[in-house]
Amino acid sequence: MARLTVLDLLRKKTDNEKIVMVTAYDYTMARLVDTAGVDMVLVGDSLGMVVQGHDSTLPVTLDDILYHTRAVGRGLSRAHLTADMPFLSYQVSPEDALRAAGRLLKESGAQSVKLEGGERTAPAIARIVEAGIPVVGHVGLTPQSVHAMGGFKVQGKGSEGDRVLRDALAVQEAGAFCVVLEGLPAKLAARITAELQIPTIGIGAGPSCDGQVLVCNDLLGLDLSFKPRFVKRYAELQHTVVGAVQAYAAEVRGGAFPDADHSFGMRKRAVSSEPDEDRIVKLY
Ligand code: KIV
Repeated sequence: MARLTVLDLLRKKTDNEKIVMVTAYDYTMARLVDTAGVDMVLVGDSLGMVVQGHDSTLPVTLDDILYHTRAVGRGLSRAHLTADMPFLSYQVSPEDALRAAGRLLKESGAQSVKLEGGERTAPAIARIVEAGIPVVGHVGLTPQSVHAMGGFKVQGKGSEGDRVLRDALAVQEAGAFCVVLEGLPAKLAARITAELQIPTIGIGAGPSCDGQVLVCNDLLGLDLSFKPRFVKRYAELQHTVVGAVQAYAAEVRGGAFPDADHSFGMRKRAVSSEPDEDRIVKLY
């Protein structure tokens, strides 16, 4: 099955079809979300927080994104693959930005890249797009500016809304094919979505965006201590995982695992039509 292209995603706005995006950081999760039928998979720099355990996305490097994007790409057969551009890979100059974006396409198999920022990032977006690399914009709450924003805070309240709209328009003007709207009042996100020709993908931006994105760890409930208002948990896998590992530990300690069913015997196969129990199908 072919991967969804930029044209397929743009058509969804025209056809009034929502775009479903989710993050993934490894091959196993990529296979699962692709099987579930999402349209776009983002290797977000959120990996700095949910995979690496940092308290912001700032320490993530281009090599980190390259490593995780390669792994995710091996697990996708239908979803479009977007790689996030980490902090300082595009802010210094449009030339730096193009070099980093080019590496993401050449070395990881990403089909598009995502950059945070509006008017100030527009020259970098234009330079990347000019080279034939599709760009996803990201305005509103931009986590790489956490210190400038004074924390992870909803943006665009009151008269600040006009600035966020200008940012979204600048991103579109620079050539981005869609834009993430993060942490915005629902009314403002609806206004931006109506004004833009390109699709908007919301996170914490209400129901009117052309698509939605969530961090896979959040929607799966892998960390139940993290529950901001915009996250809806569709599972509570933290309980499932801890319960399963506790059951395993109890069986190992009590001698119930491994049992005969999970062990190999001494007898050789007499005829080749007998089941080959010695064959280990997948070895890590
Ligand atoms: O890094 C990330 O995962 C993101 C999404 C939450 C939009 O930027």
